[in-house]
Amino acid sequence: MTDDSQYTLDSIALYESIYGKDFISPGGAATARNFIRKLALKEGALVLDVGCGLGGSAFMMAREFGLIVDGIDLSHNMVKSAMERCTNYALEAQVKLTQGDCLELEHENHYDAIYSRDVFLHIPDKERLFGVLHRALKPGGRLLFTDYCCGPTPWSDEFSNYVSARGYALKTPAQYADLIASAGFEHVSAEDLTAEFITLLEAEQSSINKADLSPGQRQQLLQSWQNKIHRAKQGDHRWGLVNAIKPG
Ligand SMILES: C[S@@+](CC[C@H](N)C(=O)[O-])C[C@H]1O[C@@H](n2cnc3c(N)ncnc32)[C@H](O)[C@@H]1O
Repeated sequence: MTDDSQYTLDSIALYESIYGKDFISPGGAATARNFIRKLALKEGALVLDVGCGLGGSAFMMAREFGLIVDGIDLSHNMVKSAMERCTNYALEAQVKLTQGDCLELEHENHYDAIYSRDVFLHIPDKERLFGVLHRALKPGGRLLFTDYCCGPTPWSDEFSNYVSARGYALKTPAQYADLIASAGFEHVSAEDLTAEFITLLEAEQSSINKADLSPGQRQQLLQSWQNKIHRAKQGDHRWGLVNAIKPG
């Protein structure tokens, strides 16, 4: 995963041309803004952005919400580019970026909130993941993330092949709710946002048509987006929003 396969410099640039400047996740800036609002944090609160990518959400949290953000991402390509952008935007006092595996985080009772956008699909060991994140949050702190999810099995052959080719580790929203509750979180909600996901994918098709791409790249991306829309409409490929609190 990451630097030598899905997140090469070229593929990051392609994704960014679809999702918008500094973003590599569905809905880009507008969707990020909606989810950051749901964190309901006061200015100065400390947030961890897990799998921060190019830093779009972290920069927005700092600029528009006055938050202090630690971003961590496994991909060297992502973090190098995010650090350059952070300097260009003069946000170093509010945003600290680190290359690393979030499973290795050692903080305890440290963050007011943990936010993550479409990252956990890459992490098979969800029990360890939610254990680490639970420990890193302060009591009363909120965990909020979106992720590629799946429908119940059996899946279509097409979806099974897609998931195994990508190496994704997907859960249904309900399975996420159980995992989060087992890790010790309360007030767990896991929403299925697949209808919104399909709307976003359809809008992203227009971005692909407008982006500065070679005919071959455009054709390949349009086909890939068409396939995603088909799998989402079939019910195999879903998108989830999970929100939970560490007991205070
Ligand atoms: C789809 S991108 C999303 C990037 C960013 N959250 C955004 O919304 O633009 C997924 C990101 O997760 C990162 N990632 C995957 N596994 C990770 C791990 N174990 N620890 C930290 N980051 C990870 C990848 O390197 C990639 O940047």
